[in-house]
Amino acid sequence: MDLFDKCYSFTRADEVKSVGLYPYFHPIYDTEGPVVLMNNRKMVMAGSNNYLGLTTDPRVKEAAINAIRKYGSGSSGSRLINGSLDIHFELEEKLAAFVNKEAALIFSTGYQTNQGAIVPLVKSGDYIISDMENHASIIQGTLIAKGLCGDNILVKFQHNDMEDLEKGISALPLDAGKLIVIDGVFSMNGSIINLPEVVRIARKYNARIMTDDAHSLGVFGKGGRGTASHFDLEDDTDIIMGTFSKSLASQGGFIAANERVINYMKHHSPAFIFNASMPAAQAAAAMKSLEIMQAEPERIERLHYNANKIRNGLMQLGFHVLEGKSPIVPIIIGDDLLTFTFWKKLFDGGVYSNPIVFPATPHGMQLIRLSFMATHTDEHLDFILDQFEKVGKEVRILNNVA
Ligand SMILES: Cc1ncc(COP(=O)(O)O)c(C=O)c1O
Repeated sequence: MDLFDKCYSFTRADEVKSVGLYPYFHPIYDTEGPVVLMNNRKMVMAGSNNYLGLTTDPRVKEAAINAIRKYGSGSSGSRLINGSLDIHFELEEKLAAFVNKEAALIFSTGYQTNQGAIVPLVKSGDYIISDMENHASIIQGTLIAKGLCGDNILVKFQHNDMEDLEKGISALPLDAGKLIVIDGVFSMNGSIINLPEVVRIARKYNARIMTDDAHSLGVFGKGGRGTASHFDLEDDTDIIMGTFSKSLASQGGFIAANERVINYMKHHSPAFIFNASMPAAQAAAAMKSLEIMQAEPERIERLHYNANKIRNGLMQLGFHVLEGKSPIVPIIIGDDLLTFTFWKKLFDGGVYSNPIVFPATPHGMQLIRLSFMATHTDEHLDFILDQFEKVGKEVRILNNVA
C-alpha cells in the first residue's frame, strides 16, 4: 500500500465543500477586532480568542512596530545560544511577577509550551494524570512522554470528574513522581476546572499540578491572573502555563513556577532549546498587552458583561446553552449536518462563529462555539442574538419560540 493512499482516500472535506457547508479556512481581509472583512462583507466576529480586544489596539501595534525597528523581524537563533533578547528576559520577569511565581520561561507558541514543559518533567516511573478534555497540545505532550517512558506513564481521568481523578491516582505508588495536568478553562465547553479538589487530591497523593491558563489569563482571577488566583490557590498550583495568543494579543506562551523548575526547563526542554526564540515584535506586543490589562481592569469586566448578555439572551430564546462563566459560550446543536447548516446560515447573515464537531466534542454534543471580546458593543451583541433567533427558527431548533 502506498504511503499517500490515506491522503487520496480522504474526501470528507471535499464532500462538505461540494454542498457549500465547508466552515474552515475562510480568509479575513481586514479587521477592527469585533468586526472583520470576510465573505465580501463586514461580519461580526464571535469566534475569536482576542478576549480583551487588544490585537488592534494602537499601543500594542506601536510596541510591536518599534520592536521590529530596534531588533529586526526575526531572532535567528535559539534562546540558549544567539537568540536571547533583553525583552525576552524582561517579559519573563513581568509574567512571573504577575502570576506570583519566582520565575517564568517563554516559548514560541502556547502549543509548544505545553509539549515543552510536560516532556522533560517526567521520566520512567513517573506519572502524568491528565483530564480527557485537555487541549490537544497537552495530549501531544503526554503522547511524546508515553513514547519516551512507556505506556504506563499516562493515566487519564473523565473530564473534571474528581472521583475518577482520585480513583486513578490512588492506584499509583505514593512515592512516585506525579504531574496532574489540567486546563484551567476548557477550550471547547468553557467549563472551569474544580481546582480546590485537584489541590486536595494532589496533596493527598504527592502530586504536582500544572494548569493551562490559555483561556483564564486575562479572564479570571485578580486582575486576570488566571485559575489559581480565581480560587486563591496560587501557592498550591506548581506550574502555571499561559498563551499570548488570546488575552495578550500576540503569539507565544509561557510557564511560571519556582526558579529551580524553570532553570531545569531552560536546560532540558527540546521545544525550548531547539527552536528559534520568539521574534521581538511578539514579545513586545505581549508585554504591552500585559501592561494595558493591568492598567485597564474595566476590559475584563466588559468581557464578562458581554459573554453573560449573550449567554442569558440565548437561553431566553430557548437555545441549549452550556452553563458557564467564561467568555466561551457553547450552544449545543447535536448533529454534524445541522451544526454546519446553522453555522452557514449565521455566516451568510453576517456572524462569524465556530462549528465544533467530533472529535473536538463528543457525538451528540456538536455545537456552535461563540467567544467574546471586551470590545464587542451592545449593538454587536444584539445583532448576534437577532441572527441566532432567525436561524434557530429557520432550522427548527427553536420550536418553543412563537
Ligand atoms: C487550552 C489551550 N492550550 C493551549 C493552546 C495553544 O496555544 P497557542 O494557540 O497560543 O499555541 C490553546 C490554543 O488554542 C488552548 O486553547
